Amino acid sequence: MIETLRRSQNLSDEQLKILLESNQYDDELRENANAVRLEKYGHTVYLRGLIEFTNYCKNDCYYCGIRHSNRTASRYRLTQEDILECCKEGYELGYRTFVLQGGEDPYFTDEKVCQIVSSIREKYPDCAVTLSIGEKSHESYQAYFEAGAERYLLRHETANPEHYHKLHPDCMSGEHRKQCLFDLKSIGYQVGAGIMVGSPHQTTEHIIEDIRFMQELQPDMIGIGPFLPHKDTPFRDESRGSLELTLRLLGILRLMFPEVLLPATTALGTIHPLGREMGLKMGANVVMPNLSPVSVRKKYMLYDDKICTGDESAQCINCIQARVKSIGFEVVSARGDALRIQKQKEA
Ligand code: 5AD
Ligand code: FES
Repeated sequence: MIETLRRSQNLSDEQLKILLESNQYDDELRENANAVRLEKYGHTVYLRGLIEFTNYCKNDCYYCGIRHSNRTASRYRLTQEDILECCKEGYELGYRTFVLQGGEDPYFTDEKVCQIVSSIREKYPDCAVTLSIGEKSHESYQAYFEAGAERYLLRHETANPEHYHKLHPDCMSGEHRKQCLFDLKSIGYQVGAGIMVGSPHQTTEHIIEDIRFMQELQPDMIGIGPFLPHKDTPFRDESRGSLELTLRLLGILRLMFPEVLLPATTALGTIHPLGREMGLKMGANVVMPNLSPVSVRKKYMLYDDKICTGDESAQCINCIQARVKSIGFEVVSARGDALRIQKQKEA
């Protein structure tokens, strides 16, 4: 089955269900996923510096610690100067991609976002700017793109409409979120989609729908991590996603999307101390160390016990570099465009 998956980059729904629900293929999956990753990307692991610039959010997703209704969250916004200071520090440490992530915060108007993006591009022309600020209009996405943002991360969270409604209030829709991803692609962004593994009410069938949706979208990046409960959300008593299933899905995704950028996420590092290392051995090839000012890190708590939020993590890059090296891979400073884009540039 794994051989078929690797050769044809596809499987039937029935085969995927068997693969997702059994642990007996995990070793074979790891060997093959790792081989494909070596074929496409060698031992390279790409770095993205994550700047969490606002934890204000107008949305109320049931799983998320910075949801609007969480009155216990202490809210913050970084100024443009703060953000540029993060980039300066990041640049000196070797980062060449900055990911600006935040809640859906109306304070950051299109004009402000464009100003921040263009000032980063001006100061660091050899760096890529990625935005991860949620659902916006086609016009807004167009404006950010023209200001110099080339990449956008927007996890679709779940492709199934009923499941989507179990994770979000009625005013949000999965259809709109998917439309945003197609808008972003049509504008020319490199896009990242993705899901939480083991989110409440998720079934194997939902994950298969997610895979089918991503086959249609053809994202440049797929971000997945286990669902982890947050104590001040409606999902406080739900159980966490599984480490094993998250790793298994990473392996499947590497074989189905041989060239996709696949991060070993913070949630994976939170659920197990060596989760990110295990992810990298399962075909992941991107890490996104936290580059936010240490003073705000504890405030960007999407889920309980998030790693990289203490003083000891002032320079996550050193920690990540050592971790990546310990398993025989190598962190590179390059922008690390998706292979599709690298090939377009060479042509
Ligand atoms: N557990 C795991 N991941 C979460 N995210 C948000 N809340 C949680 C949680 N409780 C993920 C979502 C979002 C990304 C920024 O973080 O998938 O898209
Ligand atoms: Fe942040 Fe290890 S990567 S402390």
